[in-house]
Amino acid sequence: MKKLVVLSGAGMSAESGLRTFREMGGLWEEYDVQEVASPGGWEKDRELVLRFYNERRKQLLETHPNRGHIALAELEKDYDVSIVTQNVDDLHERAGSSKVLHLHGELRKSQSTADSSLVYDIDGWELNLGALCEKGAQLRPNVVWFGEAVPAIEEAAVLVAAADLLVIIGTSMNVYPAAGLINYVSPSVPVYLIDPNEVSMAGSTGIRVIRKGAGEGVDELINILKGE
Ligand code: APR
Repeated sequence: MKKLVVLSGAGMSAESGLRTFREMGGLWEEYDVQEVASPGGWEKDRELVLRFYNERRKQLLETHPNRGHIALAELEKDYDVSIVTQNVDDLHERAGSSKVLHLHGELRKSQSTADSSLVYDIDGWELNLGALCEKGAQLRPNVVWFGEAVPAIEEAAVLVAAADLLVIIGTSMNVYPAAGLINYVSPSVPVYLIDPNEVSMAGSTGIRVIRKGAGEGVDELINILKGE
């Protein structure tokens, strides 16, 4: 089966009711990214950071995969689908996608502040001060913060380099190294971009744009692929 690689971002989950980051009304309009999503913010006020992610986790548990997530999972019948996502939600997995690589971590997991290899599932939506790892260190959200390394980027680059088809869904392509993955696709490989809004992809030509939301956009992509 052909290798179809999806690079998804916050817009993929917008139709499930989760806010994106940089749009009007986006999370970074309401929260200071340095306060809630950086090592410095964690050192300054751990409770503020934990509360921010607890609220997002609570909302995540109240929402469901949307039509776009589900259609991508169903595509596994005809394609070898790998999802490379910037999202920390688990909606791709809940929709049934079997191969999901999280670049920026997972909201429903915690990580030891003494040993980042110690990662635990969070029961429910709350992770609070005093929650400790087996080494007795405070647990933090298992999310990659600004200024931190992205451990899964090499694995993602290998997937993109081997792709027969690349589909970019719901990301403003502003954040690196994730946005740089476009540079690993082979020149002859078709690249689709699904987004209802303009996305600047400096230097990238020949991208087939589907100017729709994730749900309708993936349906349109599937029709195009069927026609090919
Ligand atoms: N369907 C598809 N795309 C949508 C939809 C929708 N229904 N609604 C909005 N979008 C698009 C927007 O037009 C925008 O291009 O989703 C994109 C969201 O962009 P951002 O908010 O910048 O989110 P993302 O690109 O995922 O951010 C990358 O930045 O804040 C950090 O770590 C965080 O993983 C995140 C990273």
